[in-house]
Amino acid sequence: MAEAFDLEGFVGADVMALVALLEDQSLSGAVLSTLERCARETDYDSLSGVPQGRDVPVRSLEAHMFEVATVALRLADVAIHTWDVEIDTDSLLASALLHDVDKMLILDGPIGCHPPRFRKGYGPADHGPVGADVCRQSNVPYHICEIVRHHSPFVGGLPDSLEAALMLQADLTADYVAALSVGLEPFYRRVKTVPASGGGEQT
Ligand SMILES: [Fe+2]
Ligand SMILES: [Fe+2]
Repeated sequence: MAEAFDLEGFVGADVMALVALLEDQSLSGAVLSTLERCARETDYDSLSGVPQGRDVPVRSLEAHMFEVATVALRLADVAIHTWDVEIDTDSLLASALLHDVDKMLILDGPIGCHPPRFRKGYGPADHGPVGADVCRQSNVPYHICEIVRHHSPFVGGLPDSLEAALMLQADLTADYVAALSVGLEPFYRRVKTVPASGGGEQT
């Protein structure tokens, strides 16, 4: 039998409170199992010690997960009331909580480490596929694993669903605002403008 593991001690009460909002108990079990699988395998002592990543290395993955999931739920509320669309909030919340889960496994450096340091055998292109694989091993439904895999800019091709679109917007919003809040350059500044003539090649 596997040794007992203090998952709340590792991921923090805020993340656990968001997992508790999932209505589908089998999905909630799969999310907890994914988090525990990563927490057992990582070299980090807690989620609060894992860097968010390339754009805002001074923030923790714990804060980022909480922020993305919170923004995603608010966006869902706005979308439902503005466009009268149906959104599977369980799938949205689960994908927001899990989208960067693989950073526990592929990153190596401390918070503030820039550029990010990768664990031996891993590189930037593993972000997305590694997360999707670990979610799948923990019985997370396939459509959520695909959001996790394809939200990564190294993979692209995000699934054509409202849940995927809202998750990505929540991720971008959390990244932009967190970057500006600590005086870092948000990554949209590094995106080149499309030429006004329309004749140039988009870069
Ligand atoms: Fe990501
Ligand atoms: Fe993210």
